[in-house]
Amino acid sequence: MAKIVIIDDEPTMVEVISTLCRENGHIVSPFNSAEKALEELPGINPQVVIADIKMEKVTGFDVLQECRRTLPQTAVILITAYASVEKAVEAMKLGAYDFITKPFKIDELKFTVQRALDYQSAVRENVYLKKEVKNRYRFENIVGTSRAMTEVFNLINKVADTDSTILIQGESGTGKELVARALHFNSKRQNAPFVAVNCSALPENLLESELFGHKKGAFTGAFQDKIGLFEEAEGGTIFLDEVNSMALSLQTKLLRVLQERMIRRVGDTKTVPINVRVVAASNEQLQAKMRNGSFREDLYYRLAVIPMDLPSLRERTEDIPLLVNYFLQKNSTQTNTEPKKIEPDAIDTLGRYAWPGNVRELENSIERACALCEDGLIRVVDLPPHIQGRQSGPGGENNIIEMPIGLRLEEFIANEERAYIEQTLRHNNGSREKTASMLGISMATLYRKLELKSKQRA
Ligand SMILES: Nc1ncnc2c1ncn2[C@@H]1O[C@H](COP(=O)(O)OP(=O)(O)OP(=O)(O)O)[C@@H](O)[C@H]1O
Ligand SMILES: [Mg+2]
Repeated sequence: MAKIVIIDDEPTMVEVISTLCRENGHIVSPFNSAEKALEELPGINPQVVIADIKMEKVTGFDVLQECRRTLPQTAVILITAYASVEKAVEAMKLGAYDFITKPFKIDELKFTVQRALDYQSAVRENVYLKKEVKNRYRFENIVGTSRAMTEVFNLINKVADTDSTILIQGESGTGKELVARALHFNSKRQNAPFVAVNCSALPENLLESELFGHKKGAFTGAFQDKIGLFEEAEGGTIFLDEVNSMALSLQTKLLRVLQERMIRRVGDTKTVPINVRVVAASNEQLQAKMRNGSFREDLYYRLAVIPMDLPSLRERTEDIPLLVNYFLQKNSTQTNTEPKKIEPDAIDTLGRYAWPGNVRELENSIERACALCEDGLIRVVDLPPHIQGRQSGPGGENNIIEMPIGLRLEEFIANEERAYIEQTLRHNNGSREKTASMLGISMATLYRKLELKSKQRA
């Protein structure tokens, strides 16, 4: 059901079209005078306007221009008795959705109106989606008032609207993707695509064809030409997530693309120019990978024209209460319930935890606590056990683990260290490389500590 305005100075014509539209379930506002219609149009805000071109004084073209000016989302269909190509071309140039010539068949009119409505709802949806996306990635969705985060905000502000390549580094869950989107949606490229690629998700050759596209027959399974993500992001931003896991040979190809601003589809000989802003992210320190030869130094410098380091959550614990509050609000909106409260002890507990999974881990913990808590109040017991973990003291409830007493300090520290390394290893799905990088120790040190551990166990 749509609102349709019909304007024609010929009363029978208005009758016929009105009846037809009503039969199709639409709400019709008929007018015999264009002046009157123009007065009421803004109040009606119709999806479709059908107007005759040839009317006394105010013509269909005038109606069209007024609609383009004041109701840009309304589709205008013009009717003309004088079928001529020039009129049609003029109408379309001025932004008419379509035109029909008198006399027309009922089906023809029905079909044109339906198509206009489909098109029109797509336009509205698109405007809505764009607005929503912008809202979601405006800065206020990146929470933090700590000094480290303020520096990040300042840098985003400074560089969002440049075309410089940016390398965002930070541990897992520190908000790299959030920042990448903020960069895009605060740049002049915001209305062009933001295309995110996870470089660790695909094997090397598939990733290459994903990024650069391929020619038909370039490899088994390449049944047709396919454009790559670089071309898909034309005019916008490509986000190369986990660029640290890119194979060396592909790194070489990416370097060439960044230098030449041209891509070559797999299996093709010609190159295509691209206009794409590149934002890359790494959850390992690339400098370390450069030293051990698994990341090209020249590529690093090409990517890190503007390096951006996101702080881990444990480096900005003062932001924890703010983030908690933000996630409580978010949960309330998502579940359509009153926002939960949290007791001060629970906030303190969160502040003492090391957060190897950073903000993502905090968000998940709050979501879990919201689901578990009783009478709308989150208490320490509602937090994941390993987070309550090391708490001791009076009133220790079921899940609270007591600290061991009677250990030598050295022994205690070794135990804690072991637990933390194991937790970080689990978090990284057993990847020792990522674990060492996250812990800020060399692989050799990690191996030594792991070896020590197995010896101690044996
Ligand atoms: N400063 C922040 N304020 C609010 N939410 C945040 C912030 N940082 C991260 N988040 C949230 O934490 C989650 C993880 O963020 P994001 O995916 O951007 O992290 P990431 O650094 O890309 O992680 P990974 O390396 O694991 O891919 C998201 O749900 C995001 O909305
Ligand atoms: Mg990410």
